[in-house]
Amino acid sequence: VTLSLDQYRERFDRVMNLALTNNQVPDRLQDAMRYSALSNGKRVRALLVYAAGFAVNAPIERLDAVACALECIHSYSLIHDDLPAMDNDDLRRGQATNHIQFDEATAILAGDALLTLAFELINAPNSQLTDAQCRLISHKLAIGAGQIGMVGGQTLDILATAQLSSPEQLKDMHLRKTGALINAAVSCGALCAENLNADVLKRLSDFADNIGLAFQVIDDVLDVESNTEQLGKRSKADLALQKSTYPKVLGLEASKQLAQTLYQDAIASIDGIGDNTQHLTELATLVVTRKH
Ligand code: IPE
Ligand code: IPE
Ligand code: MG
Ligand code: MG
Ligand code: MG
Repeated sequence: VTLSLDQYRERFDRVMNLALTNNQVPDRLQDAMRYSALSNGKRVRALLVYAAGFAVNAPIERLDAVACALECIHSYSLIHDDLPAMDNDDLRRGQATNHIQFDEATAILAGDALLTLAFELINAPNSQLTDAQCRLISHKLAIGAGQIGMVGGQTLDILATAQLSSPEQLKDMHLRKTGALINAAVSCGALCAENLNADVLKRLSDFADNIGLAFQVIDDVLDVESNTEQLGKRSKADLALQKSTYPKVLGLEASKQLAQTLYQDAIASIDGIGDNTQHLTELATLVVTRKH
């Protein structure tokens, strides 16, 4: 049977709830982790894991831990991104940000614990992954999340505040801060397959880079065009913080056009990898047409 994206989302919510249930964790820490990680996000990264896995016939039981790991890291990145020392936001997914709901120390620690939990889940004895897959997936995820990936990109974002970035600098920053984790989601989902063709992995990785960049371009556009109610986070926050964004550097229309081009390039990247790309296509569409 082929699951719909909604069915994958339901499955994910079930396994993620279990992944965040552990009676050895101090209540306050677990409450803070669950508050953010189980709140109302789009689950794009988890769904990309399942969609990429589906495209290469990976067994679904292997994808669960990987999908949870991706969303753990994503949630951690949002908690830390919202901290006063970074974007200083008070609203996320329609609720108070973690450090407002709890306190800064708890928010920092909840982020730390979610990041660590990602690697615990992948390497847990019951993860269904082979030892070789654990190693490859852990490595790919560490690269995407870490110093040359997401954390590196967040550093460039802070450095670019109140600066006029070139289009090249902006692309590099966005590919790191957002694209790298989206690439890890797609690549790690694919690595759950029994045998993975190197060319297929390369095409999936190109797909992910294209939608990863498009994802942050649209995030920047929505900050300008949408409203706080619809976004569940403060609109016009980038303007207030003097962030380097696509609308600021290229203009609004050119930014939207770029997202369309990236979408088309993404679809072209996975042309010919097989008949099971429908979920990837659906997610690529979601990335560029989303309203929040
Ligand atoms: C927001 O990501 C942060 C970015 C990388 C742009 P999402 O738009 O995926 O946030 P949620 O998970 O749906 O809340
Ligand atoms: C966040 O980019 C990227 C992350 C790695 C979290 P933004 O700072 O634009 O994300 P939002 O707009 O706060 O969700
Ligand atoms: Mg930020
Ligand atoms: Mg932010
Ligand atoms: Mg943003």
